[in-house]
Amino acid sequence: SRTAAVIPAAGRGVRLGPGAPKALRVLGGTPMLIHAVRAMAASRAVGLVVVVAPPDGAPEVKNLIDAHVLPDHTDYLVVPGGATRQESVGLGLDALPEDVSVVLVHDAARPLVPVDTVDAVIEAVRAGAPAVVPALPLADTVKEVEPGPPGDPEPVLSTPVRSRLRAVQTPQGFDRDTLVRAHAEVAVDGEGATDDAGMVERLGSPVVVVPGHAEAFKVTRPLDLVLAEAVLARRRA
Ligand code: C5P
Repeated sequence: SRTAAVIPAAGRGVRLGPGAPKALRVLGGTPMLIHAVRAMAASRAVGLVVVVAPPDGAPEVKNLIDAHVLPDHTDYLVVPGGATRQESVGLGLDALPEDVSVVLVHDAARPLVPVDTVDAVIEAVRAGAPAVVPALPLADTVKEVEPGPPGDPEPVLSTPVRSRLRAVQTPQGFDRDTLVRAHAEVAVDGEGATDDAGMVERLGSPVVVVPGHAEAFKVTRPLDLVLAEAVLARRRA
């Protein structure tokens, strides 16, 4: 039975500023998506990577992957994505072959996650946890607010105890049946779920956290591109 990684890469990345879809932005001369695919395939345990492309961009993404050198032990599939991250992950799950029993879901927007983090997540799923999330303690204190119009002062509702909070990353790892059931049964309003483990929580199944890594940060805003370039430069030094 194989471990597969689903990489949702269908987002436009508007918060990063104007330009190409986020996953196709270049870091150190290589598209972010290729870094993310390599980060998954860096684990000997990952036998298949399913890339979820923008709805009309699957052929282009397939060409991009074919144009890069990737490890031999991993197969690649490209499928068209949907309007939300949740939909895109669901379409990736639909494409999984039968022999896959452990599924990672990894954001294309986290191109630099170290292989030790990937392996630790897989290990914890194989050891029996139905859902495993890498996460880090927070540096900032977090407040819950009553959101108002942009720019207006927002009333504070509460301040959760910081030491109990974790910022979650990807790859998140799942027993395949658990994740498929979560996607089939859990309805999320509005923009859909931003986190697959959250859907598993709503099923009532246990979710555990393992240590994440600073280099698994999500490239969201322009400053994140600067940090990603610096991390790559240090790795190459
Ligand atoms: O926008 P955000 O950074 O939260 O996106 C997280 C991941 O979900 C990104 O890798 C993005 O490409 C992906 N995504 C997707 N389909 C969408 C929206 C986002 O695959 N419709």
